[in-house]
Amino acid sequence: MVKDWNPKSWRAKPIQQVPAYPDLDALAETEKRLASFPPLVFAGEARKLKRALGEVAEGRAFLLQGGDCAESFAEHGADNIRDFFRAFLQMAVVLTFAASSPVVKVGRIAGQFAKPRSSGDETKNGVTLPSYRGDIINGIDFDEASRIPAPERQEMAYRQSAATLNLLRAFAQGGYANLDNVHQWMLGFVSGSPQAERYGQLADRISETMNFMRAIGINSESHPSLRETDFFTSHEALLLGYEEALTRVDSTSGEWYATSGHMIWIGDRTRQIDHAHVEYCRGIRNPIGLKCGPSLAADDLIRLIDVLNPANEAGRLTLITRFGHEKAAEHLPRLVRAVEREGRKVVWSCDPMHGNTITVNDYKTRPFERILAEVETFFDVHRAEGTHAGGIHVEMTGKDVTECTGGARPVLAEDLSDRYHTHCDPRLNANQALELSFLVAERIKKEQEAHPPRQVVNF
Ligand code: TRP
Ligand code: MN
Repeated sequence: MVKDWNPKSWRAKPIQQVPAYPDLDALAETEKRLASFPPLVFAGEARKLKRALGEVAEGRAFLLQGGDCAESFAEHGADNIRDFFRAFLQMAVVLTFAASSPVVKVGRIAGQFAKPRSSGDETKNGVTLPSYRGDIINGIDFDEASRIPAPERQEMAYRQSAATLNLLRAFAQGGYANLDNVHQWMLGFVSGSPQAERYGQLADRISETMNFMRAIGINSESHPSLRETDFFTSHEALLLGYEEALTRVDSTSGEWYATSGHMIWIGDRTRQIDHAHVEYCRGIRNPIGLKCGPSLAADDLIRLIDVLNPANEAGRLTLITRFGHEKAAEHLPRLVRAVEREGRKVVWSCDPMHGNTITVNDYKTRPFERILAEVETFFDVHRAEGTHAGGIHVEMTGKDVTECTGGARPVLAEDLSDRYHTHCDPRLNANQALELSFLVAERIKKEQEAHPPRQVVNF
């Protein structure tokens, strides 16, 4: 048990990003009801994910984490979930092949509802209202009633998460994630891409490998692992009252787990060491993430690691770096060196989205070239420091939206208004997301040719 900690000990700490609920009794009632609901995930699954991330920390696996910036109540349909999963699995196949090692699959989904905001309110045409903080807190419409934080939204978010998770489990275990299907979808993507020739080289090698396996009798009937996959969920643990209500003791280990998702992370705005979000996360046993932006000093990072992973357990802590394409080369090495010097076991993951947001024609967007450039720098730095470039963390959707500019079939600045649907930050569309995975795969392959991989393991 973690010392001097309980699921509500965060309440005694200073806290950022708290919604101004007008009716605190109603909020307490909602939290009480949530606390009586079944957990969304099982502690054993969180432990399994931690073991898998431990393999990433040791350089023997790769992490793919992705999904919406913010899930929404309005877009809770089977098609959205299916299309996201379809794109995500294709990325996973490409990366598994390139890295010759397992890919740990973690969605930003089934709980990603609360958003930190840089300003508490928003002004439009002279009218000032509270900022939108995600569907779990208030509504996105710019009118007074929508923007008032409403506790009952937390129950809707819980129920939506349960339904989303249920469908994802069915897809992951029920045949939809069959490698043969995913491979065919991937070939479809490649043949339709303006970069078909380039990506086709990797795709052909995957096809050959699949044919070889079939020829020697390894197929999805004889080997269940070819038709199933482990898929995990994650979100930012921002709304701590909600998280507290879903914090449960695991009966097998007697330890506390967040059961709102398998992995949760602390945002770059709420990582103050003596504040509430760090307090909450230090006490639960799930794998956790920490977003690291340019303002994070190396010694503060080490102090945060002391608090969040005192036992230096591989897989417990994922550092998700988000500097921006021009700043990564300056900031990543100082953090990597400090962590290495202190001998801390972490997963290094690159979020190339949040440091690369710009405004074009009044739309928040992210140029694909900058996203790719930050990922490239991430690999360069880890190569130079001798550390493992462990994974990527992306905001993406399975739909053909026009939110980020660029890509092989480029979205232009003037296209942004066509299908700009995000409730918060701009996401890669399905083609851009897959393209990114091909480009990352090329990079990984190149490094493997120069430095042959360590032995492949299964977990
Ligand atoms: N079970 C393996 C894995 O998850 C192989 C696999 C089956 C797979 N379906 C998949 C890999 C879909 C990626 C995508 O790695
Ligand atoms: Mn975002």
